[in-house]
Amino acid sequence: MDEKTRSRNRLEPYVLFGIETSFASDYLDTLTRLGVEVAAGVLTGPPPWSLRGIPVVLHPEEISHLLLELPVVLCPVTPKGRGEAHLRALSLGFSRFIPVVDPTAVVPGGIYAGQGLFINANATLGAEVELDDFVTVNRAASVGHHTVLEAFATVGPGATLASQCRIGKRVMIGAGAVVAPNVRIGDGATVAAGAVVFREVEAGATVIGNPARLSKRAKDDSITESP
Ligand SMILES: CC(C)(COP(=O)(O)OP(=O)(O)OC[C@H]1O[C@@H](n2cnc3c(N)ncnc32)[C@H](O)[C@@H]1OP(=O)(O)O)[C@@H](O)C(=O)NCCC(=O)NCCS
Repeated sequence: MDEKTRSRNRLEPYVLFGIETSFASDYLDTLTRLGVEVAAGVLTGPPPWSLRGIPVVLHPEEISHLLLELPVVLCPVTPKGRGEAHLRALSLGFSRFIPVVDPTAVVPGGIYAGQGLFINANATLGAEVELDDFVTVNRAASVGHHTVLEAFATVGPGATLASQCRIGKRVMIGAGAVVAPNVRIGDGATVAAGAVVFREVEAGATVIGNPARLSKRAKDDSITESP
């Protein structure tokens, strides 16, 4: 099946990968709102607390060639979990990591949006935002104009990134955090839930509070780890 045929077939079912994470339920709800069926969920860890609504649950060794043809979404919400799921999914033969945008999200035309990203319900993006591969913008988060989110960055529910911020690879922005205009957050950093960040955050650091202060520095491998 070529890409043109695939894009015409808007209602082909998706595969949910890594359904042991509770965030799989949010994906399921968004796909339901989009009118997209779920062909199967793939369980890659200990059984989840809920498999509600997932029609077929498979373990990685049970995946058929037909399923590998379908679009797949990576369910883990943390950058680390999603990075590991990505490598696992690639090694099993999945290759179609299609962006998923909830129909209630506000997404201006013309933004750059990479493969495998997820924009959850009621998120709002400003003009000229750039979202790299596997970025997640969670429920009701707001991303200001000209902000750049690099690969695997995750914006927690209700967080606000003001304009022209640069959020590095694998950064985790906690629920309800605020990042002031023009601030850069280094690769692999964590911004705590509710933190208010006015200054650059160094790679791999954890910052907490208002105004945000350093809570932990990086371990070396947390900055260099792939992807
Ligand atoms: C900041 C965070 C990453 C934990 O970082 P940590 O450095 O491992 O922190 P610890 O749990 O060891 O706690 C260290 C101290 O910071 C405090 N602390 C933890 N999180 C805090 C927060 N969000 N705001 C203020 N203080 C916080 C703890 O109470 C503790 O205080 P104490 O030393 O006086 O007991 C985590 O608490 C957090 O906020 N994660 C974001 C979760 C989230 O929003 N996810 C979105 C889901 S989609």
